Amino acid sequence: MIKFPDQFLWGAATSAYQIEGSPLADGAGPSIWHRFVHSPGLTAKGETGDIACDHYNRYRDDIALMRSLGLQAYRFSVNWGRIFPDGTGRLNSAGLDFYERLVDALLEAGIEPLATLYHWDLPAALDDRGGWLNPEIAHWFADYAGAMFERLDGRVKRWATLNEPWVITDGGYLHGALAPGHRNVFEAPIASRNLMLAHGAAVQRYRQAGKHEIGLVVNIEPKYPASESDSDRNAAARSDAYMNRQYLDPAFGLGCPTEMAEIFGPAWRDWTAEELALAAQPIDWLGINYYTRGVMKHDDAKPPVRADYVRQPGATYTETGWEVFEQGLTETLLWVKERYGDIPLYVTENGSAFDDPPTAQGGRLEDPARVDYLERHLRAVHAAIAGGADVRGYMAWSLLDNLEWSLGFSKRFGIVHIDFETQQRTPKDSARLYSTVIASNGAVLSESAGAAPRAEPGIASAAEKLAAALEHHHHHH
Ligand code: BGC
Repeated sequence: MIKFPDQFLWGAATSAYQIEGSPLADGAGPSIWHRFVHSPGLTAKGETGDIACDHYNRYRDDIALMRSLGLQAYRFSVNWGRIFPDGTGRLNSAGLDFYERLVDALLEAGIEPLATLYHWDLPAALDDRGGWLNPEIAHWFADYAGAMFERLDGRVKRWATLNEPWVITDGGYLHGALAPGHRNVFEAPIASRNLMLAHGAAVQRYRQAGKHEIGLVVNIEPKYPASESDSDRNAAARSDAYMNRQYLDPAFGLGCPTEMAEIFGPAWRDWTAEELALAAQPIDWLGINYYTRGVMKHDDAKPPVRADYVRQPGATYTETGWEVFEQGLTETLLWVKERYGDIPLYVTENGSAFDDPPTAQGGRLEDPARVDYLERHLRAVHAAIAGGADVRGYMAWSLLDNLEWSLGFSKRFGIVHIDFETQQRTPKDSARLYSTVIASNGAVLSESAGAAPRAEPGIASAAEKLAAALEHHHHHH
């Protein structure tokens, strides 16, 4: 029998650049993503976030949708350049007003806002000054964070500093698939260090004025060796150090993993005591983004980590090529507790891209693979809680189909379908299932184990009720 803790927080997540559109509205400064997508050839089909889900203009409808699904929380991110068009200096009040309206509308709908301060959209003006390579960014970020706290800490009770420092560095500075698109092994450890210093500086700033909670969001991928050989086991250990411990160890005062010097060689320098202390500011909660695991083998042709993924025969892979492996989520949540101690955990992202039918049929869109992924991972979260992990909430990635960064709009992670021609929103079956999970605090997961959710009378009738409510909602807007 599945039952989640009474106060368990059920929600969904998005990020600013992926959904908002209107990137330059109301005096906002351009971000590195705005530049990246407008550089020919860098994104699939040249797709951009110029319009995306038009959430900047449709946030009220989106909140009404969240409410009809019964979401209790909404994790969004703030586009720094709307607040400080040049990254530092002059504050653009009109940009802050947008997030204030968003937060007020959420609270009015009874939905708890979780605000992430940085989800990859660095003001372009700061990139011109070196971006994450300039150690000054710790102060730039703390000042921006301070402005957000000042205006909204009375209403936002849970803040996150960074979303996924590993992706920012690996995608932005090492492999170049993400903005700002650098490919430089010497830059990678510098960017990572400055990210963690900025994180620490923002937490410090929060302690001066903040009244609630602040945390960090990391993406964790448990690493398993492809064989029992020493070389594969070392490859898995290096991969784990690089992707997982590189950020969590310093954040929790354990210093940098010893593997870092081995991985980066001459590109690595040890952090000073002062840097380690700044990165280790105590946080109130930790956000875990979980999508998949990595089964790793030694591979000299894959520097700097010298490891590569091994495809698992018989496993299911999502449209982004990620193995569906829900036990990894249970293990990750338990591993964090074991290694870093008892800190409240939130699954701040978890979800899957699968090809969906192109259009909704009669207000309905079937996404059985995503439903299956969601059910498996929700049960995995429950298993972690049963095993002693202090998991306080779950945020589905993503509320809406959106711009999957350089992969464009074709990779759909939403539990709500978006027709990008008309901006029509249609909850997929995964949203309908999720809605019943929330309404029953997880109990429906015990009933539907192994069965297609559509076959479950309980879910079917709940879904019908929801469909009727949504019908009603659409007629109102
Ligand atoms: C990011 C999201 C992204 C998702 C799916 C996470 O790495 O935080 O912005 O869309 O994964 O790739």
